[in-house]
Amino acid sequence: MNTIITGLQWGDEGKGKIVDFLTESADLVIRSQGGNNAGHTVITKGVKYVLHLLPSGILWEHKLNVIGNGVVIDPGGLVEEIQRIESLGIVITPANLLISDRAHVVLPFHKELDAAREAALGSHQIGTTKRGIGPTYADKINRCGLRMADFNERTFVTDRITHRVAEANEILARYALPTFDAATVCGEVFTAFERLRPHVANTIPVLHAAWKAKQTLLFEGAQGTLLDVDFGTYPFVTSSNTTAGGACTGSGLPPLAIERVIGVCKAYTTRVGAGPFPTGDAGLSDYLHGLGREFGATTGRPRGCGWLDTVLLRFACMVNGVTGLAVTNLDGLDAYDTLQICTGYDIDGTLHTLPPAERHAWSRIVPVYETLPGWQCDTTACTRYPDLPAAAQRYLARFAALCGTPIAFVGVGPDRAQTLTA
Ligand code: GDP
Ligand code: IMO
Ligand code: MG
Repeated sequence: MNTIITGLQWGDEGKGKIVDFLTESADLVIRSQGGNNAGHTVITKGVKYVLHLLPSGILWEHKLNVIGNGVVIDPGGLVEEIQRIESLGIVITPANLLISDRAHVVLPFHKELDAAREAALGSHQIGTTKRGIGPTYADKINRCGLRMADFNERTFVTDRITHRVAEANEILARYALPTFDAATVCGEVFTAFERLRPHVANTIPVLHAAWKAKQTLLFEGAQGTLLDVDFGTYPFVTSSNTTAGGACTGSGLPPLAIERVIGVCKAYTTRVGAGPFPTGDAGLSDYLHGLGREFGATTGRPRGCGWLDTVLLRFACMVNGVTGLAVTNLDGLDAYDTLQICTGYDIDGTLHTLPPAERHAWSRIVPVYETLPGWQCDTTACTRYPDLPAAAQRYLARFAALCGTPIAFVGVGPDRAQTLTA
């Protein structure tokens, strides 16, 4: 079944692990948005792989992985990532990795512009990953970006980089940040592009041919619904449409090609970077950090942790059209005696069951909680859904009812094998 895997919270829900699990029964894995701000962890047979731009299907032999037109590609970063993954024994060739010729390119100065914009925001910083994502998507929308296909026109690329470097340097000088030499930027980017060139293709007819041949397509979302530039906690969001619709605009496959949407969420909530977090809980954060869990895969920053928020999940299920939930990290709650689930937001005495749009309303939210008993036993060795303790099954059933969406998969550990089908 052609499936979108999408994050329902603020990213890091365990999308990589679920994509990897479902790749066994797929033919193609497609990334359609975001860039190397993503960090997707897959652990199998004792080896840990962290993927930033490469689709997680790269770990399986004989699967085609496509980086779609909606992704923003840091060419040097992708070359390094390919080398790192190859050093772990994975062979990467044009037979298992294609890159859209329409994908936009992150240039070295985009990363510094990202830092400059954060510096300008002072105490209102977004806490970006500083991978140049916002400035690259801004250039795309401003119609002054560079695409992979442009690299066949050396003079055009050189002229555009020279022009954009001059503009960027003016801004960077204002914040005493390092400035760039256009010739050096061109040299670095052309060298990286030459390594990627064999993989660059018009991926749209390739994807359509696979669809028509009834091959199974798996779309790997990056980030999560609350980081979506339209549906997230704006302005504390990323710069792409992370929700299900982005899979189509970012790949060139139409909505009719999609048959299933799996929404990935943790059994609790996490957030890295700044912005509202109504159910954030210092006790739960300290507990999970104490276990060595919840440190970002891309930047290593500790993630804030909090109780399950079904107001956000209900909204995320709506805007993505989620057909089944993949609940990860259930084992993170194993030791707790009682668990809280947020069922509504009290804002100035009015109960809300969907998140507000107004920025100022977020700071006035008082979460309304329901308390459920914990299971206080180790779930990591469970291999089938019915093996889960009764209290864990009750927690999941309540979770699903509050989201109005059935549970499809449950994660009880980071390994590929620790995934249960409901
Ligand atoms: P992604 O960005 O959505 O792919 O998620 P990340 O890889 O950034 O973060 C998810 C973290 O949770 C990683 O460290 C995973 O190895 C880990 N993980 C995923 N599913 C489970 C699970 O069911 N249990 C445990 N203990 N860890 C999990
Ligand atoms: P995956 O795919 C978690 C967050 C950043 C920051 C905001 C904007 O691993 O789930 P950006 O660099 O995109 O301009 O940062 O978005 N962010 C993520 N948080 N997981 C991610 O990706 C993220 N990608 C971006 O921390 O708050
Ligand atoms: Mg991640």
